[in-house]
Amino acid sequence: MWSYYGTKKRIAKHYPNPKHSKIIEPFCGAAQYSLYGNNWKNEIILNDKYNVIYSIWDYLINSATDKDVLSLPDMEQGDYVDDFNISTVEKYLIGFCINSGSAQPKKKTAKYNSWNKTKIDIAKNLYKIKHWVVV
Ligand SMILES: C[S@@+](CC[C@H](N)C(=O)[O-])C[C@H]1O[C@@H](n2cnc3c(N)ncnc32)[C@H](O)[C@@H]1O
Repeated sequence: MWSYYGTKKRIAKHYPNPKHSKIIEPFCGAAQYSLYGNNWKNEIILNDKYNVIYSIWDYLINSATDKDVLSLPDMEQGDYVDDFNISTVEKYLIGFCINSGSAQPKKKTAKYNSWNKTKIDIAKNLYKIKHWVVV
């Protein structure tokens, strides 16, 4: 759903289809295997030890609506997330997308900023993850 270092977005198509109805991603990051194709329809359990990743998934799964996500501010090159009145977890989510492929959320919007498009994609696909669990 969002840009993250080491993401399997491009190679998820080469992974085998799930054999069982439960998918556990033990190092989930941006969970591209669970999001690939129809995999999202399974019982999905995400795990990540990085509290920032955990809190983004917790926010998207258990709290955010599509309207909440769409109401987050657009970001233009040079903008700082701290200049906007949004929650910490919203800053984390935006922070990964304003400097694509980062291992930590960034504060300042770089040239490679996918956020304005990503937020529309997240809002459109949010329904797919509402039954997921993150630990
Ligand atoms: C390269 S990323 C995973 C990318 C993911 N497959 C995707 O498609 O976006 C690796 C993730 O593993 C997490 N991680 C590293 N060691 C871990 C551990 N011992 N337990 C749980 N998560 C861990 C990191 O925090 C990071 O989010």
